[in-house]
Amino acid sequence: MAKTLINVKPHPGQAEVHNSSARFKVLDCGRRWGKTRLGVMECLDVAAQGKRAWWVAPTYKMSEVGWRPLRGLAAQIPHVEVRRADREIILPNGGSVTVRSADNPDSLRGEGLDFVVMDECAFMHEDAWNEALRPALADRQGRALFISTPKGRNWFWRMWQLGQEDNGQWQSWRFTSYDNPFVPNEEIDAARATMPERVFAQEFLAEFIDDAGGVFRGVMAAATAEPQDKAEAGHEYMMGVDWAQSNDFTVLTCIDMTTNEVCAVDRFNQIDYSTQLSRLRAMYERFKPAAIISEKNSMGGPLSESLQQMGLPVQMFTTTNATKTEIIQALALAFETAQVRIPNDATMIGELQAYEQTQLPSGIWRYSAPDGMHDDMVMSLALAWHGCNNKPWLLL
Ligand SMILES: Nc1ncnc2c1ncn2[C@@H]1O[C@H](COP(=O)(O)OP(=O)(O)OP(=O)(O)O)[C@@H](O)[C@H]1O
Ligand SMILES: [Mg+2]
Repeated sequence: MAKTLINVKPHPGQAEVHNSSARFKVLDCGRRWGKTRLGVMECLDVAAQGKRAWWVAPTYKMSEVGWRPLRGLAAQIPHVEVRRADREIILPNGGSVTVRSADNPDSLRGEGLDFVVMDECAFMHEDAWNEALRPALADRQGRALFISTPKGRNWFWRMWQLGQEDNGQWQSWRFTSYDNPFVPNEEIDAARATMPERVFAQEFLAEFIDDAGGVFRGVMAAATAEPQDKAEAGHEYMMGVDWAQSNDFTVLTCIDMTTNEVCAVDRFNQIDYSTQLSRLRAMYERFKPAAIISEKNSMGGPLSESLQQMGLPVQMFTTTNATKTEIIQALALAFETAQVRIPNDATMIGELQAYEQTQLPSGIWRYSAPDGMHDDMVMSLALAWHGCNNKPWLLL
């Protein structure tokens, strides 16, 4: 391996990952564990075999973090060619390592690869992997190393989970910052004293924190609702609808207002009008909700009108930053105070846990799914819950 060419020894955790024969390795580590160092060593190792490797960072600026040690380590190899402008290192045997950044998807297209490292990949768009890097590995049956500190439960978490299942191709690890013998434990303890426990657990212990810094807390505890096939006698129901935009899902959510449980969810991405209307109608017939709170975005307007013409009790909801903030905060409060229960549905739980808030410079909050993730289950649920709270059907 590269360590025979260059004078670097992996520490025990790095060696363990290196020695695994899995094709796709997912490495969840605390800050300063030696993630970047391992990624760079693995790339040089592949290049030393005459093969082609890429080192990919989330942004151009962050790619400097890899390019610097890569250049430094490569300088120890005789007759190596360092192409600064292309940020590429070419070994005498023809093997190469190229540094790229995922914020420029076009730069990720092109040649077939033997190996790719994605450093801090929890901060990348999932599309970088699915649409650009995974296909580039296909013709050479290339391998991949996903490395990151966690960022809540986003796609990196899902990849890590794949590696926890015993399926041969994927393997995953978790290491804390304390596992790097080159960083003194006191340094990490000092950092711990300055930050909230949850942040420390994520950043240094590499824990995939349930609801890390997120909007909704107590999601897992709420996931105990039993699905219902049809309305129970004497119960009242409420529905919420988030219509698909171009590339996401239409989600119908029905809440049993007698128990505050989500009793039925339908999620689909056929966006032709007739499919959407007939699926909605089917759920309506099963539960006869008091009202259907329907988002009035570009497509939602005409669809909601069609439903009204069919005689369904549709109440339109216009989403603006202000109205969205209101219904999301009401839903967050419902989770925090354990008022609402949801089914144990991985997609719904994932969306709720990943949902983010950012405060704009003006002080206003903005709510959204992280880049690359959907929020249609969150919105549909928030609309239904809004209906439960505001009894708009009284106005119908
Ligand atoms: N095998 C090794 N031998 C010597 N030093 C190492 C080794 N691995 C890591 N280090 C040192 O540990 C420190 C952290 O390494 P690195 O930057 O690779 O970690 P990281 O997990 O990517 O950190 P960050 O979270 O800041 O991105 C650096 O000073 C690096 O030189
Ligand atoms: Mg790093």
